[in-house]
Amino acid sequence: MESLAVLLAAGRGERMHAARPKAFLPLGGQPLLLRAALAFEAASSIRAIIAVVPDAMMDEAARILCPVRKLIGVVAGGPRRQDSVLEGLRHAPERFDGVVLVHDAARPLVEPALIDAVTRCASESGAALPVLGLVDTVKRVRQGCVAETLDRSELGAAQTPQGFRFGLLVGAYEAAFRDRVTLTDEAMAVERLGERVVVVPGSSRNRKITEPEDLAWAESLLKEEEARA
Ligand code: CTP
Ligand code: MG
Repeated sequence: MESLAVLLAAGRGERMHAARPKAFLPLGGQPLLLRAALAFEAASSIRAIIAVVPDAMMDEAARILCPVRKLIGVVAGGPRRQDSVLEGLRHAPERFDGVVLVHDAARPLVEPALIDAVTRCASESGAALPVLGLVDTVKRVRQGCVAETLDRSELGAAQTPQGFRFGLLVGAYEAAFRDRVTLTDEAMAVERLGERVVVVPGSSRNRKITEPEDLAWAESLLKEEEARA
């Protein structure tokens, strides 16, 4: 099934405390946005890519993404993540009815194999996302005290890309906006309709770059890999 990627890069990156939005910061000499886009370029299940960026960065994003042959659009995002997703969905090709993958440009080290696994799973079952198991024991905390210890085997951290049959995600987004729900990921919109979302194994390399220490971690991972190559 043909698959469309929506690359989200319209956030401000406040927790990074940098002079520019984090998708435009370099990692191993390449902006995060370009690295993420090249992973989708390399994934055989992906036909087309739309990048969602801050309004003021449209020209720069188009320049950065020049080498990406699957790129079909650079569009301006909105104030919340879910507004940016909606902008991306609005710019899908007319009558598109394949699978759409929504991905954080802030996860630049995503592997093409994970992208293809999410596409495959979403086209079979309707909705899929990568989830990474937790290593720490997890507590529910209330007012500075432990309320309970949760069963870690049932918990995991949601990653992107999250994949959906296009009509399913568009319908779920319409419902979420109508009901004024705040979404922290795309799967949430589909879950609240009672639809099944299938889990594929997440990847530790696919960590989200949120704070300066995440960028330092990614830089040293790339250096290590270069030294080994
Ligand atoms: N994002 C977006 N539009 C928004 C908010 C977020 O496209 N209005 C994107 C970000 O660019 C990022 C991804 O969603 O690739 C994950 O969000 P997050 O890590 O929270 O990034 P930022 O919102 O940029 O960072 P912060 O929350 O620290 O400001
Ligand atoms: Mg944010």
